[in-house]
Amino acid sequence: MAILLESAFVSAQELFSRTENLVRVVLSGRRRNMQTAFERIDIRPVLIKGTLAIQVMENDGRVTTAKNYALGQLDFKALIESGYSNILVEHTSGALSIRITKKGEALVHEDKGARQQNLEHDRKKERLLDPSDPFLIEVGISDTSGKIKPSKQDKYLQVEEFLRILVPTLNGAIEAGHIAKPTDNEPLTIADLGCGNAYLTFAAHQYLKSIGMPVKVIGIDIRTQSLKRNSEIAAKLGIEESLIFKAEAIDQMSIQSADIAIALHACDTATDDAIAWGVNGGSKILLVAPCCQHDLQTQMSNVPEPWNLLTRHGLMKERLGDLLTDGLRAQLLKLLGYRTDVIEFVGGEHTPRNIMIRAVKTGAKADPQDRKIYDQMLSQWQISPALEDRLQF
Ligand SMILES: C[S@@+](CC[C@H](N)C(=O)[O-])C[C@H]1O[C@@H](n2cnc3c(N)ncnc32)[C@H](O)[C@@H]1O
Repeated sequence: MAILLESAFVSAQELFSRTENLVRVVLSGRRRNMQTAFERIDIRPVLIKGTLAIQVMENDGRVTTAKNYALGQLDFKALIESGYSNILVEHTSGALSIRITKKGEALVHEDKGARQQNLEHDRKKERLLDPSDPFLIEVGISDTSGKIKPSKQDKYLQVEEFLRILVPTLNGAIEAGHIAKPTDNEPLTIADLGCGNAYLTFAAHQYLKSIGMPVKVIGIDIRTQSLKRNSEIAAKLGIEESLIFKAEAIDQMSIQSADIAIALHACDTATDDAIAWGVNGGSKILLVAPCCQHDLQTQMSNVPEPWNLLTRHGLMKERLGDLLTDGLRAQLLKLLGYRTDVIEFVGGEHTPRNIMIRAVKTGAKADPQDRKIYDQMLSQWQISPALEDRLQF
């Protein structure tokens, strides 16, 4: 039911003020022409040393930060009016859901299902992948007793955190109509490029299946031993129909397109091959965590002043080269109609290669100024990024 925004906000505030019945509030999405400080905010009452407080978990798409407020201290009104397009208030006897349309109307839905309050303060982070899941044992992340092997802890977390970004990005793209809702006849297609031992490939397949998403995943790696190993595991798990592998170079793939292209640490310009494959085939989402980068490092010989201040130190030259590479990749994607951001997908303690380029195809027309600054960067540094050569640009 569409109602005036103001009265929807008043109803949400009223429910929020009844702390004794409040289960949680979730703010997500962005209203037209408004910027939000976070991707998602979760609010719930918690008991801290016997005193009721309000916990606010702010997620910026990468990390979640928790803040606790004494009752009455949180400016809830300001928060719900600050630009989020979806407001969900759950209480012990139902839920109020408000979706704010592009026209600024409030579509309100109420349900009367009972819900339970959980006032525990330190809830453990919910794992997406159960360490004892047979696929984790088969791919070698977990031991036969279902515990993560110490040597694979970092890879497990990289994969989990990758999924934590993949899933909301996918849901957002489906909600916005950028990707059609997958069906059994037309499942979501995902290509994992440079899949190696396919930890992420299996995880994406198994996790999406577990939440009821029809999906077909393909893992690509140039090495035939990867194909053999991964196909055998898929067959053993009985999932070889919807999870297939191919031993191919990314720039010579026999498959033309997928809804989503992902790449975790594809070496050097294989990351550019992966981005280019996704863009040229019309992928709607690209999630790419680059690895070592040598392409621009070798081209950075005519350093524009005063940047020599950094590049005379080998270490800094290397890091600057990485930043230039990823900055230019992100800018190219933006110019090609992708909403693009660069985020840390996992803590630096789990891999120094923890940057992810996330791009969602919206088809937005590029601002000529963005093209100008891209060209300026290239001409100042006298460089030519590998990605540009691979794109119809
Ligand atoms: C660092 S490993 C990462 C593997 C996996 N994504 C992971 O995170 O565990 C990079 C993989 O990319 C593969 N690779 C490198 N260049 C490739 C190319 N041009 N085409 C296909 N695979 C490639 C390598 O064989 C290797 O298995």
